[in-house]
Amino acid sequence: MLTTLGIVRNGVRRSLGLRSLQTSSTLQHDSLFNHRDTPEDNPDIPFEFTPENEKRVEAILGIYPEGHKRGAMIPLLDLAQRQHGWLPISAMHKVAEVLNLPKMRVYEVATFYTMFMRKPTGKYHIQVCTTTPCWLRGSDEILEAVKNKLNLQVGETSKDGLWTISEVECLGACVNAPMIQVNDDYYEDLTIENTNEILDDLKAGRQPAPGPRSGRYSCEPIGEPTSLSSEPPGPGVGVRADL
Ligand code: FES
Repeated sequence: MLTTLGIVRNGVRRSLGLRSLQTSSTLQHDSLFNHRDTPEDNPDIPFEFTPENEKRVEAILGIYPEGHKRGAMIPLLDLAQRQHGWLPISAMHKVAEVLNLPKMRVYEVATFYTMFMRKPTGKYHIQVCTTTPCWLRGSDEILEAVKNKLNLQVGETSKDGLWTISEVECLGACVNAPMIQVNDDYYEDLTIENTNEILDDLKAGRQPAPGPRSGRYSCEPIGEPTSLSSEPPGPGVGVRADL
């Protein structure tokens, strides 16, 4: 999004200048939509689900009725990605085999959703939301803090395979902006300081508690609740005496 808004934070008006376009999809465009064989990603590298995941494959397939098994494609791709850490082409071929579909049907899905990582990804995938609500609450500073802390740019993976940074659009936690997602967890109401703490914890092998860092519970108002503060009146709308 492009904008020249200013905001008032802590009583100080800040001109935010021009917000640049989100860059991850542009940076990943080539790897998202095109496949080129590389030593770590080519069809000759075998991919099999582990015995444990084979059971999960059966359980996932069991959810879908005969004739609709292809509905399991996204859960199976997700399972393959969780097993491998990212989604190589051999894993896509395995999913096509399991679902008895042409490979192209799987390529269409795997290249459409940005949740599928088409190139080697760090153990911790740091996704920084920079859409408007997060941006108004300081996501540019959070992104800079992450880049500085990890010495990486957006779209890069660290040489030790620990970190990948992506800049992403709204992750649906705007009320707790600014926020980041690390693998499956959301970290919300962030400041530069506690963003650095989260990264320090992860680097040290500790699992930081997900959720808001402001001390509030979930997305309740900071301070006292401002609505829905009285006892609920109970079911019904008063039309029937028994409700
Ligand atoms: S704008 Fe960041 S979570 Fe919605």
